This record gives sequence, C-alpha cells and structure tokens, in this order.
Amino acid sequence: MSTAVIESEQPGAAEEPPIQSFLVTFIIRRFDPEVDEEPRWVDYDVEMYPTERVLDALHKIKWDQDGSLTFRRSCAHGVCGSDAMRINGRNRLACKTLIKDLDISKPIYVEAIKGLPLEKDLVVDMDPFLDAYKAVQPFLISHSKPEHGHERLQSAEERARFDDTTKCILCAACTSSCPVFWTDGQYFGPAAIVNAHRFIFDSRDDAADVRLDILNDKEGVWRCRTTFNCTEACPRGIQVTQAIAEVKQAILRGSR
Ligand code: SF4
Ligand code: FES
Repeated sequence: MSTAVIESEQPGAAEEPPIQSFLVTFIIRRFDPEVDEEPRWVDYDVEMYPTERVLDALHKIKWDQDGSLTFRRSCAHGVCGSDAMRINGRNRLACKTLIKDLDISKPIYVEAIKGLPLEKDLVVDMDPFLDAYKAVQPFLISHSKPEHGHERLQSAEERARFDDTTKCILCAACTSSCPVFWTDGQYFGPAAIVNAHRFIFDSRDDAADVRLDILNDKEGVWRCRTTFNCTEACPRGIQVTQAIAEVKQAILRGSR
C-alpha cells in the first residue's frame, strides 16, 4: 500500500487538513463463460480515499483499467439490493462498504455471492432466489373488502408485529451466506422466509395458513440450522434468524 496527499482546491482549503489517498489492491474473482473454464483471481491497484466505497473501486477499475469487469449496481445507496457480493469472505453491499472500514494493509478480496449459478464475474443468476421468493406469495391476500370502501386499518401494535421484515431489499446476502442453501439449492432460504413473515404476521392478510403450509415443507423452515449467518449478513439489520424462529413457532401453534 502506498499513500498520496491531495490538497483540496476549495477556497480556504489551506486551513483544512489534506485528504489522504491510498493505493489499495483489490483481488477480484473473474469469470467469463466465453473464455474461462474456471474462475480466476485478478489483481488491481486502485487509488482510493477512505470515505469511498468498494463500489467506487469497482467503478474505477471498470472505467479506467478494464471495461470488461461485470457487476450489478443501480442505486449506489443501499436501497436497490443489486450489489451484494463477498468482500473479504463476508457478504456485504459494495455500495455500503467503506474503504476505511476494511484493512487496506492487505489486499481486499471481492467475489460473487455463493450458492447461485455464476454468470459472469460478480454477477449470479438470481432466478432460483426469486423463484423461492415468489413461491411464498409475498403480497397481501384478503378475502374481504375494506370496511366502508376505505383503507384497511390496523393498530400501531399490529403494524409493529412485522415492521422488521418490511425492510428487506431482496439483496440475497442472507440466503447466499447460508450453508444449508449452499448444499441444498432447493431450500427456500432466509430471504423467502423473511418475506413470508412480513405477510404471515400482517393482521390485514388472510393467507397466513397457506404460507405456513408452504414453509412447513421439507425444504422450508425446518432446514434452518440457526447458524445466524443470515442475520450477520443482512445490510438492513433485519433479525433474520428471529423471523425464521417466529415462523417455526407459528407452524407449531397452527396459527400466527
Ligand atoms: S433479509 Fe436482509 S440480507 Fe436477506 S435479502 Fe432481505 S435485505 Fe438482503
Ligand atoms: S447499488 Fe443499490 S443497494 Fe447497492
């Protein structure tokens, strides 16, 4: 790692401390299905500032060094969930991972999330993940019309019951950090269960029993081994393991 000092060009900058940049080595697991038989690790040295993110490094590599580097991103601000990847062996969003929070005295390893088919470089096929999500019917199902033709009301306590699981951005960081999912691609996975939880415990929904039945499958909640990888990986801070435990308890009770 080498360092450089950049003086700010802002008026009055002479009184401000200089902004220090660093040369950081990123080692990225690359795979081009048209050329490579196996993925290969490739090194890139990139000038970075502490306040930049891993996503900024990927942009610099793509724009300045190798335009073929392939990755997904959209919002760049932790909202869309498209840039989950393994950074130093841990699932994170590249747009939420600051360089200053990593040990830049060593290379930073970046690779695609695990457990889903690798398509190219940092891009995986999300279809199996989204198929599991769709299978739990992640939408409000009601057998009655709202009273007086107005909105469906619920108390603050009823809303709080599933507040945590409304925060999911479908990034797949949880599901692709789960050792059960790595070895059994049929397992619904934490994200699908989180999104089932969001409707199972919604007082306005009438299909909790349907979803509980779906998740009482041999590839459902009982495959969870409570390793907490999912909770640690979630960039939204969702208590994923707890949500899975609550769905298990609802199945045992026979009701939400
Ligand atoms: S629960 Fe968290 S880690 Fe899993 S898909 Fe949703 S936001 Fe991503
Ligand atoms: S690019 Fe949207 S969450 Fe990171």
